[in-house]
Amino acid sequence: MPVITCIEDLKRLHRKRTPKMFWDYCESGSYTEQTFRENTSDFSLLRFRQRVARDLSGRVLDSTMAGTKVTMPVALAPVGSTGMQHPDGEIHAARAAAKFGVPFTLSTMSICSIEDVAAASPDPFWFQLYVMKDEDFVDSAIERARKANCSALVLTLDLQILGQRHKDLKNGLTSPPRPTIPNLINMAMKPRWTWNMARTPRRQFRNIVGHVKNVTSLADLTAWANEQFDPKLDWAKVARIRDQWKGKFILKGVLDPEDAKMAADAGADAVIVSNHGGRQLDGALSSIRMLPSVVRAVGDQTEVWLDSGIRSGQDVLKALSLGAKGTMIGRAYIHGLGAMGEAGVTTALEVIRKEMDITMALCGERDVKNMGRHNLLIPQDFEGNWA
Ligand SMILES: Cc1cc2nc3c(=O)[nH]c(=O)nc-3n(C[C@H](O)[C@H](O)[C@H](O)COP(=O)(O)O)c2cc1C
Repeated sequence: MPVITCIEDLKRLHRKRTPKMFWDYCESGSYTEQTFRENTSDFSLLRFRQRVARDLSGRVLDSTMAGTKVTMPVALAPVGSTGMQHPDGEIHAARAAAKFGVPFTLSTMSICSIEDVAAASPDPFWFQLYVMKDEDFVDSAIERARKANCSALVLTLDLQILGQRHKDLKNGLTSPPRPTIPNLINMAMKPRWTWNMARTPRRQFRNIVGHVKNVTSLADLTAWANEQFDPKLDWAKVARIRDQWKGKFILKGVLDPEDAKMAADAGADAVIVSNHGGRQLDGALSSIRMLPSVVRAVGDQTEVWLDSGIRSGQDVLKALSLGAKGTMIGRAYIHGLGAMGEAGVTTALEVIRKEMDITMALCGERDVKNMGRHNLLIPQDFEGNWA
């Protein structure tokens, strides 16, 4: 068993153990991948202030996110096709999150269904909704999430139109993979994945198959999914979905302060500053650079969280210091999952917690809720002077 000390170690194992098309699906951004790269590299522009000779005993990482108690302010982001990174991936991730005391968010485009995860997870989880043209599907997904006791609805706003990732097109990505010769050869080289995948019945988008009229085959499903994202989603529709759901309502994929104001006015319990991990609008600024302006715009009205680019507990602390109340991680836990299933997700969370604890202490803080701008050295041009 290799010694895992950082998310990078899990990433290497994930790559080794997962078929190429799903590794590429995870580890890519749209077009030139500029935003994907800068999401991570921009964190390194921020530095911590080292403080000494302070009482650092009894340190606390607990917090709350939209009223949910969390053992650290880090939730697992919705990631489509998680069950292709590791067989039954959503179930493994939900269990690891529940045991650790952080929220798990199930994507609309998951392999395991809402009902599969509800039956396997010891705690309520959050459900992420994509608004589809098929209104019956949207209504029934909301109803199914309510029945499954999901404790928040996360509505994603930045994918009305699909961004293009070159690798997915070149790989001919589908879930499950088509039995082409290159795919069969690649799967034969990943025996653990292939063996476990053969033993689970969960190999296609189970939130959709069986819940949408006339979608029974892989071809039907691919055609349905590609043309279903609703380009007409607007703030009126957001308000309708909020009224329909009634519970905790989180808006994800907001990068601009003006949109953040609309999201706060729409009654969001939290707004997630996110560019979908660099998978949608290439050329947009990184989430961490946009965070301060969103906090200034709506930080006194609603909770502001950040995702996109977090690869360590240090990144989490930088986001909190700039005013985020919580964070979400995507690839950081998917690397753990692809490496070692549930145990790998737990390891990813442990790595992040340890990095947060040590870094917070070396910054002279005992409670994560006290982290603030006073803990950072921020370059003068960090937000940029854009015309
Ligand atoms: C492989 C992959 C699939 C994703 N699928 C979804 C999805 O189904 N719904 C959604 O709202 N966001 C989705 N996202 C975006 C994540 O929720 C999150 O915003 C992103 O991963 C954060 O960036 P990070 O991976 O750098 O942490 C996906 C991200 C990845 C990497």
